[in-house]
Amino acid sequence: MKTALPVALAIAAFGAHAASDTRELVRLVRQDCGSCHGMQLTGGLGTPLTPQALRDKPVDSLVATVVNGRPGTAMPPWKTIISEQDAEWIVQRLIEGFPEETR
Ligand code: HEC
Repeated sequence: MKTALPVALAIAAFGAHAASDTRELVRLVRQDCGSCHGMQLTGGLGTPLTPQALRDKPVDSLVATVVNGRPGTAMPPWKTIISEQDAEWIVQRLIEGFPEETR
């Protein structure tokens, strides 16, 4: 199994986000997405969001799922609070192994 990049490196590698935005997004995913997808994102009511579960799925459709939700399932649309760009950032990080919250 690949070890996750240190958080600082993961943040540095993504220059388009201010660190505070990044922290906010990490927190949002860990808390709000974690309530369904599991605190470790390994699945719960929602499907696992681990690199193993997502790496063979098309990024575009994963991003669309975050933005628009999946009608007929418990997955809600997030477009009122998560932009498409942020959804793409989240999906990319999920595929790599999602960073832990920092303080
Ligand atoms: C109310 C529960 C709930 C919350 C909160 C939730 N999800 Fe989901 N999500 C689901 C369910 C259920 C599915 C599976 C839908 C299906 O059966 O196709 C899903 C599917 C997904 C998928 C597609 C996974 C795949 O393998 O195709 C992604 C990506 C995803 N969620 C990301 C997120 C993110 C990011 C958040 C937070 C911003 C989030 N979810 C919050 C319930 C939730």
